[in-house]
Amino acid sequence: MEVQVAVLDYGSQYSQLIVRRVRELGFYARLYLPEQLKELPPVQGVILSGGPASVSDADAPDVDFDYLKELKVPVLGVCYGMQLLNKKFGGTLQPGRTSEYGPALLQILDDQSLFADVNSDSQIWMSHSDTVTELPPGASILATNEEKQAVALRFCDGFYGIQFHPEVTHSHEGRSILRNYLKMLDAAPGFDVESFKKQLIDEIIEEVGDREVVCGVSGGVDSTVLAVLLHKAGVKVHPIFVDTGMLRKEEDLEVQEQFKEVGIEIDTVYAEERFLTALAGETDPEKKRVIIGNLFLDVFFEHAGHVELLAQGTLYPDVIESATSGSKASKIKTHHNRVDRVMDLKAEGKVIEPLAELFKDEVRELGASMGIPERALNRHPFPGPGLAVRCPGEVSKDKLDILREADAIFIDTLRSSGWYDRIWQACCTLLPAKSVGVKGDVRAYEYPVSLRAVISEDAMTADWVEIPFPVLREISNKILNGVKGVNRVLYDISTKPPASIEWE
Ligand code: XMP
Repeated sequence: MEVQVAVLDYGSQYSQLIVRRVRELGFYARLYLPEQLKELPPVQGVILSGGPASVSDADAPDVDFDYLKELKVPVLGVCYGMQLLNKKFGGTLQPGRTSEYGPALLQILDDQSLFADVNSDSQIWMSHSDTVTELPPGASILATNEEKQAVALRFCDGFYGIQFHPEVTHSHEGRSILRNYLKMLDAAPGFDVESFKKQLIDEIIEEVGDREVVCGVSGGVDSTVLAVLLHKAGVKVHPIFVDTGMLRKEEDLEVQEQFKEVGIEIDTVYAEERFLTALAGETDPEKKRVIIGNLFLDVFFEHAGHVELLAQGTLYPDVIESATSGSKASKIKTHHNRVDRVMDLKAEGKVIEPLAELFKDEVRELGASMGIPERALNRHPFPGPGLAVRCPGEVSKDKLDILREADAIFIDTLRSSGWYDRIWQACCTLLPAKSVGVKGDVRAYEYPVSLRAVISEDAMTADWVEIPFPVLREISNKILNGVKGVNRVLYDISTKPPASIEWE
C-alpha cells in the first residue's frame, strides 16, 4: 500500500490524529518529521501539522519551501503549519499567546474548495497562537471566526491553511473540511484495513527476520492484537503473561482462556511478591511506574532466556503522553512501556512496536479483521501498571485485595445493567484518606473508593458518563455491604483534561 498523504509533525499533541482522520476518509497517511520531506515516498498530498512553537521564534521549526512547491501536490497547513506557509509566502503575523485552545464559530467567506458543503456558524476548535496580520500577495481569506480574524487562507492554487484544528471532534465539521482537501488530491482512496494488516505483517517479518521475540501480553486488546499479528507473521515469539499481583479479580484465568480461544500458547509468570516487594514504601506516582516498567523487563528477559527483541503493544497515545526523547510534546506520565531502559533498548534497535501509530479503536478494527473474539476486543483498557496506579500512595496487598473486590462489583454491575459496552473505560480507585463511618453500630475507619467511567475516542480527551442514579446506587450498596474495608463510595465527575483517566 502506497503512502498517499504525508503529515509533517511540528509537535502538536494532535498530529497523529490528522493521520488517523485522513485514513478514516480512505487515504493512506503517515507521520513524518519536517526534515524528512526530501526522503518522502511519492505522495499526493502534504499536511503541515500544528505545533507549540511560534513561527517568529529564532529556532522555529522550518520547511524546505522550494522542495515543497516542487512536489506540485495540494498542501494544507494546520495552525502552526498555516502560519509557516503564511510566512513563506510573504505574509506577516503577530505573535500571540501560545497553547491556548478554545471554541469559535466559523464564518465562511468562500464556500468553494475547503468549505464546500460546510456550514457557517459551526463550531471550530481554535489555537490562539500567532494571528495573521497581513496576507501574502495573492492570498485570500476563505473564512474567519466571529471576531473577523482570518482562520482559513488560500495562498495560491493548491496551498491552503487553517488556523483551527479540523482533526479534533470539537471542530464539528472538521471531517468535511479534510474531505474537501482530500478531493483536491490527484488520487482515489487507497486505504483499507486488509491491506494495512498485510503491510503491518510484512513490516514485522522484515524487522524481526529470524530473531526471537518476547512479547508481554496482558489480555488487553493491544497486546492481544500484537500477539496475533506476530503469530500470523510466523516469527519466533514467546508470549508471556505476568501476574504482577496488581491485576483484577480472576484476571489470570480470564486471560489464559482468551488466548486459548485465539489459539496462542502463553507462558504465565506469577510474580506478585516480587512486584510488591519492589514497590514497598514508594508513594511517588512516577517512581512507581518506573519500578513496574523495569521489573516487567527483568521478568520478560529472565523468563524468555536469550531473546533478542522485545515486542510491545504501544499505541500512539502512550507515545505522546510519555513524550520520550525525540518528541516535541510535553510529558504527562511515563507509561510502563516507555521507561528509560525500554528507550535504551529501542535506541539499540531491540524493540518493535508495530501498533505505535494507531489509536485504540483502529486496533480494535484490526483485531476484528483477524477474528479476535468480541469480548476481548471490547474489554475496557487496563493500564500496564495495573491496580498500582489505582491505589494512590503506597501499594499493599491488603489495599489491592479491597480494590479488587470493589472493582469486580463495579464492572459486574455495569455489565448486568447493560452499561459496560456504552462506556469506554471504567475503573475503581482506592483512595488513601481513610474516613470515619459506622457499620453495624460500630465505628468504621475505612477507605473510600472512587468510581470513574468515561467515554473517549482515543484516551487523549475523555468525558465522564452520566450513569443513572439507580445503577450508581446499586453499585454503591453492593460495595458498601460486600467489601470489607470500604465505607464510602464516590463518583468521579472530572473531564480529561484537566484530570487524566487514571489517578496516577
Ligand atoms: P490517562 O490516565 O493518562 O490514561 O488519562 C489514558 C489511557 O492510558 C491507560 N494507561 C496506561 N496504559 N500503560 C498502559 O498500557 C501505562 O503505563 C498506562 N497509564 C495509563 C489508561 O488506563 C487510559 O486508558
